[in-house]
Amino acid sequence: MKYILIDCDPGHDDALAILTAYAHPEELRILGVTTIGGNQTLEKVTENARRILQFLHADIPLASGQAGPLVKSLHTAEDAHGESGMDGPVFEKEDYPLVSDNAVVFLKEQIMACPEKVTIVAIGPLTNIALLMRVYPETKEKIDCISIMGGGIGHGNSTELAEFNIYVDPEAAHIVFHAGVPIVMAGLDVTEKALITVREIESLKEKGRVSRMAGELLGFYNESGRQYGFTDSPIHDLCAVAYLLQPDLFQGEYQAVDVITEEGCARGLTFADKRLMCDKVKNVLVLEEVDRDRFAAMLIEALERLDESIS
Ligand code: BDR
Ligand code: CA
Repeated sequence: MKYILIDCDPGHDDALAILTAYAHPEELRILGVTTIGGNQTLEKVTENARRILQFLHADIPLASGQAGPLVKSLHTAEDAHGESGMDGPVFEKEDYPLVSDNAVVFLKEQIMACPEKVTIVAIGPLTNIALLMRVYPETKEKIDCISIMGGGIGHGNSTELAEFNIYVDPEAAHIVFHAGVPIVMAGLDVTEKALITVREIESLKEKGRVSRMAGELLGFYNESGRQYGFTDSPIHDLCAVAYLLQPDLFQGEYQAVDVITEEGCARGLTFADKRLMCDKVKNVLVLEEVDRDRFAAMLIEALERLDESIS
């Protein structure tokens, strides 16, 4: 059993990551969900988190976090995720409670109160997590690992070189990668191979309540992905949860990863020191390969479980 906190900006793939984690209560105990401005404004992504948790009839504390990055102003990803940040399904009006509007304090309290070490699943810009590392460094001892969706060794999606979550807040990413905490990095190297096919998306539409909602999410996300050249859909954020459930789906290598924060075309680039003589601490497991078929099956089975357990 792992105790996890999910820091997210839902986001279609964030929502699928939450659903999959929630479908495995015997392996993952979700201590809380926190939000961060990213794919859309903080207000919108927090509404989306409330929609998903209410849809699940969940009883998981939800806290909102930082509205924008440490230094620059927020830029969002509505091209990929739509006006709401999670376009597609129509949700009932939600009244899911927010336990706090200070995610950093909430995270600290959850981590320090937990009887065991905690894993943070960080699938949005890293602003909340960087603040946690800086303001409450005592939490580091109690963090088993931070499972991040972000970056890519030498290639990007927001720019040629920078991936969205890192590009939004490179200063925060720099703090987190240098915090001395073990990190698993699901960057674009692996997440662009973690595809759900059009046929698999179609099949969801014939199933139960949760699968159908996921099918509607993926229907929108698949269409929007075409502008970036994808026919099938990369479910980036799910990799950060899937690794915790079935690490053997992935192959990777421990590396020393750094982040470019300087202005210019490389801002937000993540890179690894691959020199043989590199003597830096290799605290980041960079995932490189995924068994796509088993990855997709994990998502589909998780949704089926929820179809059965939630009315
Ligand atoms: C990341 O950016 C967001 O749009 C997704 O939710 C994911 O976290 C992919 O680059
Ligand atoms: Ca995300």
